[in-house]
Amino acid sequence: MSRPGFRSLLLPCAAMAAGILALLAAPVRAATAEQPDVPYVPTPPAVVDAMLGIANVGPRDFVVDLGSGDGRIIIAAAKKRGARGFGVDIDGALVSAARREARKQGVADRVEFLEENLFTTDIGRASVVTLYLFHSVLMQLRPRFLEALKPGTRVVSHDFEMEGWQPDARVTVPVPDKPYGPPTSDVYLWIVPANAAGAWRWQSAIGGPAVDYELTLSQTFQMLDGRSRVGGRPGRLESGRVRGDEIRFILTAEVGGRPRRHEFSGRVSGDTISGKVRLDGGEHDWTATRTRRGRIDQYSDR
Ligand SMILES: C[S@@+](CC[C@H](N)C(=O)[O-])C[C@H]1O[C@@H](n2cnc3c(N)ncnc32)[C@H](O)[C@@H]1O
Repeated sequence: MSRPGFRSLLLPCAAMAAGILALLAAPVRAATAEQPDVPYVPTPPAVVDAMLGIANVGPRDFVVDLGSGDGRIIIAAAKKRGARGFGVDIDGALVSAARREARKQGVADRVEFLEENLFTTDIGRASVVTLYLFHSVLMQLRPRFLEALKPGTRVVSHDFEMEGWQPDARVTVPVPDKPYGPPTSDVYLWIVPANAAGAWRWQSAIGGPAVDYELTLSQTFQMLDGRSRVGGRPGRLESGRVRGDEIRFILTAEVGGRPRRHEFSGRVSGDTISGKVRLDGGEHDWTATRTRRGRIDQYSDR
C-alpha cells in the first residue's frame, strides 16, 4: 500500500499554514455561522491545468470542486475544456467572487457556485471531483466518494493523498514561484471502482466439456483478491483490479488435465460481468453472474 511521503504531508500543511497566516492578516470579517475546515489557498494555474489534464476533463464532464475558493478550477474546466459543473464554498465572499469571475470569463451559463458546507453537498452528479483540502478532510470524505459517486468518476486532489486508496495516477508539476517548500505540487487521481466484491459463477466450454467456474472476490478500493474453484478444484487468482466499471484478473486453474492461464477482462454492470477471456492464444466471450454481493473494504492504517 502506498503511504503518503513525509513531504506530501508536511509541505501541503505549510501551504495551508501560509493560508492561515493570510487569513489572520486579512481584515476582520463578520463572523459566519460555519467556519472553514481548511483555509483559502488558491491552486496555481499550472496545477489547475494539470488537475484537469490528469482527469482528462472534456465537454461531457460535470466537474464539482469541493471548497472552490475563487472558482478557478471550475471556471478553467468550463472555459478551457468545455465542461459544466459547480463549486461549493463555505465562504460567501469567495462564492460571490467566483460568480463574478464566471460572468467575466463568459462561462456563467455553464457553471454555478453555491455557499454550502462541502460535507453536505450532493456530489452524485459529478463525473470529476476536484479537491485542495486537508488530508483529514479527505479521509472524512473518502467513504462518500465510494458510496455516492458513479463508477468511473475521477477524483483529483492537489497535494494531499487519501491514505489506503492507492492513486491510479499521479504527476508532479513544476511551480517555480511556489511561495513555500520545493517549487513543485503533486496531483493525485483516483478512479471510483465499481463494486465487484462477492461470489460469482459462470460456465465455459472452450474446446471441451462445460466447466463450472466459481470465484469469490474481496475488494479493497480498486484491488481484487479472492478464492476460486474451477471444475471443483482450486485455482489461483492474480493481478485483480477494477478501474471504473472495467475488471481484469488472471486465473490459473487446471482444465482438461493441465494448468491453464485465463486472462479475464470485462465490465461490471450490477450483478453481471460481460467481457472476454484469453485462453491458449484465443479470445472468447465470457459472462459471469453474481450470486452474493460483498462490500468494498476501506481499511485504514490509522
Ligand atoms: C485550499 S482552498 C482551495 C480553493 C480552490 N479549490 C483551489 O484549489 O484554488 C480550500 C477552500 O475550501 C473552503 N472550505 C473549507 N472548509 C469548507 C467546508 N466545510 N465547506 C465548504 N468549503 C470549505 C475554504 O473556504 C477554501 O476556499
